[in-house]
Amino acid sequence: MTMAASEAVLRALSGGLPHTCSDPYINNWKSVLFFKSRVNCRNNGGSLYQKSKNCSRMLWKYTWINACQGEDVACYVETQRAKRLESMRFKCQRADSVSGVTANENLPPISRPVNTVGVTVNGNVASAATVREKSHKAHEGSVEEEAWDLLRASVVYYCGNPIGTIAANDPSDTSILNYDQVFIRDFIPSGIAFLLKGEYDIVRNFILYTLQLQSWEKTMDCHSPGQGLMPANFKVRTVPLDGDDSATEDILDPDFGEAAIGRVAPVDSGLWWIILLRAYGKCSGDLSVQERVDVQTGIKMILKLCLADGFDMFPTLLVTDGSCMIDRRMGIHGHPLEIQALFYSALLCAREMLAPEDGSADLIRALNNRLVALSFHIREYYWIDMKKINEIYRYKTEEYSYDAVNKFNIYPDQIPSWLVDFMPNRGGYLIGNLQPAHMDFRFFSLGNLWSIISSLATVDQSHAILDLIEAKWADLVTEMPFKICYPSLEGQEWRIITGSDPKNTPWSYHNGGSWPTLLWQLTVACIKMNRPKIAERAVKLAERRISRDKWPEYYDTKKARFIGKQARLFQTWSIAGYLVAKLLLDNPSAARILVNEEDSELLNTLCDMINANPRRKRGRVGFKQPFIV
Ligand code: GLC
Repeated sequence: MTMAASEAVLRALSGGLPHTCSDPYINNWKSVLFFKSRVNCRNNGGSLYQKSKNCSRMLWKYTWINACQGEDVACYVETQRAKRLESMRFKCQRADSVSGVTANENLPPISRPVNTVGVTVNGNVASAATVREKSHKAHEGSVEEEAWDLLRASVVYYCGNPIGTIAANDPSDTSILNYDQVFIRDFIPSGIAFLLKGEYDIVRNFILYTLQLQSWEKTMDCHSPGQGLMPANFKVRTVPLDGDDSATEDILDPDFGEAAIGRVAPVDSGLWWIILLRAYGKCSGDLSVQERVDVQTGIKMILKLCLADGFDMFPTLLVTDGSCMIDRRMGIHGHPLEIQALFYSALLCAREMLAPEDGSADLIRALNNRLVALSFHIREYYWIDMKKINEIYRYKTEEYSYDAVNKFNIYPDQIPSWLVDFMPNRGGYLIGNLQPAHMDFRFFSLGNLWSIISSLATVDQSHAILDLIEAKWADLVTEMPFKICYPSLEGQEWRIITGSDPKNTPWSYHNGGSWPTLLWQLTVACIKMNRPKIAERAVKLAERRISRDKWPEYYDTKKARFIGKQARLFQTWSIAGYLVAKLLLDNPSAARILVNEEDSELLNTLCDMINANPRRKRGRVGFKQPFIV
């Protein structure tokens, strides 16, 4: 697209607003969408800022940079971060020494009876149980305090403004790869923690700056990503300003997967962005961000990309392997549950935020249709419990007709032997993926938890998923919550499906590793279903060792006994996930900023559609709308 053409498009999109300043606080339109080669801001405090005298934040930046006596912003930020790290280390030491009791093994094991021998505390006789309870509280407090210090130390600044958090802040790590960058998905728990703490600026900045990166002109082997795609991650680079040795500029450099290991496009980024945008509005009460023209355009672009017609027969989103949290080959290409749950949630969030206007009627119609079809498809075809497995076990195959019971031609031999043991009598879950002649029976945690949160699963199904988690605690939670998926791929299957990936060996990393960050999603799901005790139990378990282990990215082995082979330490979303879980358990009503309630209008439409569609009727003899609860 030529410069003139892109400017014309921009003007059309923005309603002709002039481009006065590159600060997203002022700039209520999409400034860099099609033509800007990079998003940058200069740190020399010179004429650029003086030109923007009508822009208070710019002026603030100008003054502030001068106060920094010519040092560049990054240098100032580094000093601040170093200071924070110093105080953080001091606090860590203090926490260890205060709590000889915090030697974590000394904490009472969960749900085991505690010893009640009397001891003297502060002149009173107290039971060992009370002492332990007190020491547990003290330990809990110090873990939380440390987590906040670490989270703050991971904040990344762009032109002096907090804009995100780096993925990991591990000083001992020699191969950082891209863990020094801000990942969209990793920032979500950080953003939620800040929102719940009443610190809204960083989230607002993140939303607005990442929006500027959307559909950035990057290519992979001469091919550009689809318009509307959000990057997986971005880096703030501070570089010398051309022709001026004394000044630097900050650049936002996004990665849409063209540098990522395996070159995978992050389908989940845009979906998370929409979910966070709604949470920001609900928590801060500031709806002005979601109402902005550029933000509305951003939402629509993500939706258009997701709702675009393809060759699909299914309402689920078709994606490549590794397009979400599991971002390398794990055999989840096709229609993975995680993406479908986030998609459903993002559609509902977007519907709430889209301004009603003539131009968006078609989009809203498409969105509503998709919501209905998607929830039907997942609730009906992804759900398994003992009864359903038994049905599959007795399936007839090769049925050619509209009336087929076994619509996807699943061969019963596919039922893996582990599933028969794994499935409790009470409980069930949504399978990982569904393709012609293939059901991926693995349990994927994020997809199941987010299906509860978004109401993609029915109320009964949601309770059944939590029942299964309770029944299979020893497999899914073990010594560190929460398994990313169950079970792991082994032997020949591992070789073929992962491509012999040495990082994804059985019970490690994405292949059945345990990820503490999933605590926050577990907590939201439990609170939504009014079963917070399950989350409390998991948080207590994590609290025993997560800080002592230095907040690893993931744990290995079937029982999560080892810190992951290649796990980063001080992984930000492990820290933020823990904090969000704690904050929400203290104030469960705050979970509403993330939850999507079942939409009765949608349900009615779903029933009407099914009743009115003769093909579906024929296909479902005796269909009793099992999704209505
Ligand atoms: C790993 C994870 C991915 C995460 C990234 C940064 O690649 O698989 O989900 O976003 O690390 O933490």
